[in-house]
Amino acid sequence: MSLLEVRDLTTAFKTERGEVTAVEDISFDLDEGEILGIVGESGSGKSVTALTIMGLLPQPPARVVRGSVHFAGELLTGMSETRLERIRGAGISMVFQEPMTSLNPVLTIGEQIMETVRAHEAISVRDQRLRAIEMLDRVGIPSAVRRLGDYPHQMSGGQRQRVMIAMALACRPRLLIADEPTTALDVTIQAQVLDLLMDLRDELGMAIMIITHNMGVIAETADRVLVMYAGRIVEQAPVARLFDRPLHPYTRGLLDCVPTLEQDRNRLVAIPGSLPEPARRPAGCRFAPRCGHRIDACSAAIPPLVAVDASHASACIRTDILA
Ligand SMILES: Nc1ncnc2c1ncn2[C@@H]1O[C@H](COP(=O)(O)OP(=O)(O)OP(=O)(O)O)[C@@H](O)[C@H]1O
Ligand SMILES: [Mg+2]
Repeated sequence: MSLLEVRDLTTAFKTERGEVTAVEDISFDLDEGEILGIVGESGSGKSVTALTIMGLLPQPPARVVRGSVHFAGELLTGMSETRLERIRGAGISMVFQEPMTSLNPVLTIGEQIMETVRAHEAISVRDQRLRAIEMLDRVGIPSAVRRLGDYPHQMSGGQRQRVMIAMALACRPRLLIADEPTTALDVTIQAQVLDLLMDLRDELGMAIMIITHNMGVIAETADRVLVMYAGRIVEQAPVARLFDRPLHPYTRGLLDCVPTLEQDRNRLVAIPGSLPEPARRPAGCRFAPRCGHRIDACSAAIPPLVAVDASHASACIRTDILA
């Protein structure tokens, strides 16, 4: 049994133009101590996947159409909010994409970390404070005792990101979901935060799901990778394999425009064309309109994710020719 088992997860949103499917048929496993990277262009469904797993999308407008999420053997999909709240924090914890909006500007960072601990564990105020100091220390914030009384605006972007990670780790989760944890940071701090995540995995045996649009970040951190396009997984492989022998034309396109950590320009631009809106997806393979290997059959049906061996799968009907 894997720590996290996601099967056929499909999430839709009610919009003015009717219901649109944001992510579709997402299936994967994540083991204890493993770092899974999820990569794809803006709008491919990375955050919706993470938020669906966490049960954090307001329903409505969101709706889990089908599929299941098991965490440590427990079925999360359909679980009551009260029980989910207990799992969030100590079981699964998340670092959100926008650090500034997730920190409360009128509370000190010490109060915020202590509040997170208090919500999940019955420990004294003194121990809450000690835990907050320990966590700030661990994420590399110098003079932790003194910084407890600081407000978010008194810290730099990199420090706020570290505080977010400290909060997410305060209850010692078994799984950390980090959604673009370094996008807002400058290069040196980015590398430090990634090192920190990998150290924490080694120290605590935590599983990590790291979400990014940056193949460079994937190369530095992940053990295994899911590539998403227009709401679906198009390729899945161990990281070395994905870089050595990418199969899906979309993955190849992403790899052709890998920014190094130093030149991360936020959004991938080298693949011509753009990702279709959920309401305007083409029939069949959603990548076909941008694909140099397209044939008529590509538009006939959505290509399923097919295993080429035990660890590598691709959703392209031309895999035999391209491999
Ligand atoms: N509340 C919502 N209502 C309607 N559509 C939504 C909502 N939230 C997300 N979507 C749609 O779901 C799709 C996936 O969005 P998601 O935020 O998961 O992308 P992402 O891969 O995280 O992108 P980014 O790299 O920009 O963070 C997008 O097409 C988006 O427009
Ligand atoms: Mg996102």
